[in-house]
Amino acid sequence: MVEVQWKLVFTVVLSFVSVAYGVTDPNDFRILNEFRKGLENPELLKWPESGGDPCGPPRWPCVFCKGSRVSQIQVQKFGLKGTLPQDFNQLTELSNLGLQRNHFSGKLPTFKGLSKLQYAYLGNNQFDTIPSDFFEGLDVLQILSLENNPLNMTEGWLLPTTLQNSAQLLNLTLSGCGLVGAIPDFLGTMSSLSVLQLADNRLSGGIPASFKQSQLQILWLNDQIGNGLSGPIDVIASMTSLSLLWLHGNQFTGTIPAGIGALPSLTELNLNSNRLVGQIPESLAKMTLLKKLDLSNNNLMGAVPNVSGNFLFASNQLCQSTPGVPCAPQVTALINFLGGVNYPSRYVSSWKGNDPCGGSWLGITCNSVQKVLILNLPDNKLNGTLDPSVGELDSLTEIRLQANNITGTVPKSLTSLKSLTLLDLSANNIEPPLPQFSGSVKLVIDRNPLLMGGNHPASPSPDNSSPHSSTTNPSPPATHSDSPQRPPKVKSSKKSKLVVIVASLASFAGLVLCLVLLSMYCRKKRKGSLKASSSFVVHPRDPSDPDLVKIVVSNNTNGSASTATGSNSESISSGTGDTHVIESGNLVIQVQVLRRVTNNFAPENELGRGGFGTVYKGEMEDGSRIAVKRMEAGIITNKALDEFQAEIAVLSKVRHRHLVNLQGYCIEGNERLLVYEYMPQGALSRHLFHWESLKLEPLSWKRRLNIALDVARAMEYLHSLARESFIHRDLKSSNILLGDDFRAKVSDFGLVKLAPDGMKSVATRLAGTFGYLAPEYAVTGKITTKADVFSYGVVLMELITGLTALDEDRSEESRYLAAWFWHIKSSKERLTAAVDKVLDVNEETLDNISIVAELAGHCTAREPNQRPEMGHAVNVLSQLVEKWKPYDDETEGYTGIDYSLPLTQMVKGWQEAEGKDNSYADIGDSKGSIPARPTGFADSFTSADGR
Ligand SMILES: *[C@@H]1O[C@H](CO)[C@@H](O)[C@H](O)[C@H]1NC(C)=O
Ligand SMILES: *[C@@H]1O[C@H](CO)[C@@H](O)[C@H](O)[C@H]1NC(C)=O
Ligand SMILES: *[C@@H]1O[C@H](CO)[C@@H](O)[C@H](O)[C@H]1NC(C)=O
Ligand SMILES: *[C@@H]1O[C@H](CO)[C@@H](O)[C@H](O)[C@H]1NC(C)=O
Ligand SMILES: *[C@@H]1O[C@H](CO)[C@@H](O)[C@H](O)[C@H]1NC(C)=O
Repeated sequence: MVEVQWKLVFTVVLSFVSVAYGVTDPNDFRILNEFRKGLENPELLKWPESGGDPCGPPRWPCVFCKGSRVSQIQVQKFGLKGTLPQDFNQLTELSNLGLQRNHFSGKLPTFKGLSKLQYAYLGNNQFDTIPSDFFEGLDVLQILSLENNPLNMTEGWLLPTTLQNSAQLLNLTLSGCGLVGAIPDFLGTMSSLSVLQLADNRLSGGIPASFKQSQLQILWLNDQIGNGLSGPIDVIASMTSLSLLWLHGNQFTGTIPAGIGALPSLTELNLNSNRLVGQIPESLAKMTLLKKLDLSNNNLMGAVPNVSGNFLFASNQLCQSTPGVPCAPQVTALINFLGGVNYPSRYVSSWKGNDPCGGSWLGITCNSVQKVLILNLPDNKLNGTLDPSVGELDSLTEIRLQANNITGTVPKSLTSLKSLTLLDLSANNIEPPLPQFSGSVKLVIDRNPLLMGGNHPASPSPDNSSPHSSTTNPSPPATHSDSPQRPPKVKSSKKSKLVVIVASLASFAGLVLCLVLLSMYCRKKRKGSLKASSSFVVHPRDPSDPDLVKIVVSNNTNGSASTATGSNSESISSGTGDTHVIESGNLVIQVQVLRRVTNNFAPENELGRGGFGTVYKGEMEDGSRIAVKRMEAGIITNKALDEFQAEIAVLSKVRHRHLVNLQGYCIEGNERLLVYEYMPQGALSRHLFHWESLKLEPLSWKRRLNIALDVARAMEYLHSLARESFIHRDLKSSNILLGDDFRAKVSDFGLVKLAPDGMKSVATRLAGTFGYLAPEYAVTGKITTKADVFSYGVVLMELITGLTALDEDRSEESRYLAAWFWHIKSSKERLTAAVDKVLDVNEETLDNISIVAELAGHCTAREPNQRPEMGHAVNVLSQLVEKWKPYDDETEGYTGIDYSLPLTQMVKGWQEAEGKDNSYADIGDSKGSIPARPTGFADSFTSADGR
């Protein structure tokens, strides 16, 4: 049907523009003809044999033009055979090329200078040669896929560094195309890159350290042919955007970094078939998003963490195969000891299973009741420290570790070994102080240069090789009773965690250049008391509010990262720029007016600041207050302007009692301003998290319940508007604003996205705030209304617990509120303990809270289709609010309204009050003041939108 209409339109248009026949640029025409000539089966293209013009009309199949120039060729999966013309790069206007899944062969022509090329899909062909200047000048390249082409197979090829100039590169898929050598460093510093697939090549060497700061979401390095990749994989613990990580089929060594459990979006982790050692980090059990984990075929030891799901651990040296079951205590202690000396491979391969006394464990001697008596690993080049857990092998009689390279101090725990008779640590590198051993222990510590005071290094002290502690102990026990400790090994300091989290935030947004600048800003700031974990743009005047934050999506897609710093240098008189008028003019407000009412955007009128700009309060001439959002735009491109206008079109369409109202806007020169109704009590986050410092009264449960319901109604409205559906994309407690009646309105529609009819999933660039992001949105960028439902669930959790969605200062398990809440919500005790301490909890409130907790759980279900619609939340909550009614009037009714009066009198009283005093109560000081125009009351008369 639609197609028929289009054809009709097409023919009508055709009849008018037949003069345009033959417009294609002659050179582009020539290259297309060469392209055809290079094919063995050109007929598949259905290009007209003679005559006709590629750009049409009618345009040739598979060819798209911009004006007279060819901009796209799309022939994926056509079965085409042949070669490409070598002057292909003269199609200089080409922006999108789809040649994937054909049988193209021979030499790839250079793409040098294709400065408009954004998408290049060349994968799954038979191209056998790639010229070294192929990647030069691909300035706007976003997607490059060359996978599965036998490129330069005999000698292999290295990725040319010129590729790093493609600063907008998002996806680089080069699996199975003959790459050799090391992974180039620059791939780690391309801040836009989010997908890197290099599997099935012949790469070698390690993962470059530069990957630490990368924002990759998908990384495939698996199955390298030949020696494979090697070295440690510690760097992955800082790659906080990772969702898919495939490193299997290589030669990676070392341990799985403990920090891996903190990767917030990891869903698939394949580390199988490497040479990893050590224990499996417990933290893996807490990764709620992890769906696939394969650790099989390594040399891992110890217990399997209590993971649920079909995770693979086979072919390791594990003590148990059942998740959650610990090793025998002796085994745990021995593995920790081995960890201290960095898992020497000889012992790793011999210390298998859960019984050290079965006879096969190298260096271990047991007694008849299966207790370890002797630890005998002399002369083994053991590197590392002596782990305190050796002190748990309580039947040990002898420890023989002479002639190794053990550093650090002797742990005090060894003094508790009652049966110990010999501790031989001679010829190592032990440091003082030595703990005090009982007289029954023969302590051999000669040839430890640091213990000898460094005066006679390595010179064997003759005849005093059996000193007792009483004679050689260099210092009295009291002074070092708690000092022997393992030096910290993998524990990252607080500072580095912050770096990690900053990087993670940055990487989450992934695609936008401006993030780099912002993250640098954050890094600079991290030394302060800021909770950088949840902030991106931090309000410089209120660093205590971590909610004034947003992962920014720059409004101009061309990647310009400028945040206007020069805008405040404009003078007041500069209002003469071109004014754009959008739709009906009655929402347009002149910039001079807004300058006046905000006192020229005076700092003292600043209400808050987010990624999109700064919000100022202003007082109009009629006394009404407004909030003015001034977008930080820098140089405004036409595209940005279009988007801004589209946004206004959206904003002026949505009207709801619980959505902050757009009252006007202004576009003049470089200024882009939005005018909203003023919400005197500010953001919900202030009242939940900062009430103490702001000297506010904490919100009662009843108020929280009402707020939850208000927000649910607003979201339901957004999601189910008559013909279109809107997705907020950034619902969070700092975007929920409160009126003086403490009823809530949802704000910040800067991110609202129009969901097309019928299809409620839209792929977008990532926007939103860490901690509130639905997993599927974070991972795929595909957004549905269910992503809002997830964020809403997180807000409910905040209302219950008074905890922020994300707080780096909290323990690892409770860092992400959503993840932690899932663990506690099912247990009544734990839930009760988690309820915000400021709430007055009685039996009935608690019942309520558990219902809301359950709702929060449903809203944050991992699978989007298991989350309810917002209407469900409205139903659940409205019942609770209603049930709550009897308490309503006693404690906290709407301020200043006497509901016992007849309606007409109430309205009259209100009108009088309005005549007298038109100002709202000041922020932070609402107590006792009577708002001249109670918002909730007035709105209940004026809102015509229903719901
Ligand atoms: C691939 O091989 C060709 C011919 O041997 C050579 O000219 C070219 O530089 C190689 N490509 C790369 C990227 O090294
Ligand atoms: C980039 O890669 C991801 C992951 O493979 C894929 O889902 C996405 O469609 C790719 N983007 C484009 C534009 O090809
Ligand atoms: C593992 O976790 C499950 C719940 O996820 C729990 O029921 C079980 O008791 C745990 N097992 C151990 C051994 O801790
Ligand atoms: C011990 O450490 C040194 C230097 O760190 C290293 O060269 C050596 O290979 C290590 N030895 C063992 C057995 O791990
Ligand atoms: C001993 O360990 C130290 C510190 O790890 C290292 O610098 C040194 O190279 C090692 N010596 C040997 C012989 O492995």
